[in-house]
Amino acid sequence: MPTNSFSYYLKMNSIPDIYDHLFSFESKRKKLSHYPVHKKLSNGDQFDDPLINLMFEKIKFRDNEKILDAGCGTGDTLFQIVEKHSIQGIGISLSSKEIEFAEKLANANKLANLRFKVYDFQQPIEGSFDKILAIESLKHASNIDQVISNFHKALKKEGQIFIADDFLMHDSIKVERHKLLWNASGFMKFGELEEKLKTLNYNLRAYDLTSHVRCRSNLMIEAFKVFINILKPIASKNLKVNLETYYGALLLEQLYNENTVEYKVIIATKS
Ligand SMILES: C[S@@+](CC[C@H](N)C(=O)[O-])C[C@H]1O[C@@H](n2cnc3c(N)ncnc32)[C@H](O)[C@@H]1O
Repeated sequence: MPTNSFSYYLKMNSIPDIYDHLFSFESKRKKLSHYPVHKKLSNGDQFDDPLINLMFEKIKFRDNEKILDAGCGTGDTLFQIVEKHSIQGIGISLSSKEIEFAEKLANANKLANLRFKVYDFQQPIEGSFDKILAIESLKHASNIDQVISNFHKALKKEGQIFIADDFLMHDSIKVERHKLLWNASGFMKFGELEEKLKTLNYNLRAYDLTSHVRCRSNLMIEAFKVFINILKPIASKNLKVNLETYYGALLLEQLYNENTVEYKVIIATKS
């Protein structure tokens, strides 16, 4: 039995559990449309998504290109791309709930050029792609080198990898706790990722979106943490998983408030 309130939360849920439960909770609120599972970013008062805007500004999608969304969530990014470009998209995720939903939505909208499947990007990736997107999914990888190697093999010459994620600036106990609660063993420093891609001779462009990350005040975050501590012992098994995930998200917000993490995008072009 845990001895203090913090160790009580040090439980690692599996990645499918985290995202299946998150989906069950979020999809009720968001009704029947795809939605970003990534962090809330904003442009001052504007509610458009600076990350997706940056992707469309910096990456040229062309008709008939094959795009892999590695860690696709509800398929939001691919659904947004097909609104503008006639691409062939494949989205993979470990969450069967996300994939079932994305598939249904693609079928309902007669989007035969979008396919979704439950698949682990740490396994060899079949096919060859013009672009590979990994938005807030890479940090879940237990073996980053394997994932980069899989992406590298599946990417066509002159193809591009678009990675967006939280990156670590300094280690801290909160970082360790967040990694545990989010099953995020691949949470790393941005420089480490750059090095791995440089070793494979990629040309790199990097963008810092940290100033667009919206976080609540530490006081409010602490209040939510107390609320979760009270609720968790009486919560159902399903709700418990979401509370643990939410607790991990609150820790991440605090890490942003403390300038311990940064939010960056890297566009790597294969030479
Ligand atoms: C924070 S969500 C981001 C979803 C989506 N990219 C977006 O921006 O809306 C992380 C996603 O990565 C997926 N994921 C994590 N590890 C994975 C793995 N090894 N293979 C495939 N998908 C993975 C999760 O299932 C989830 O869909």
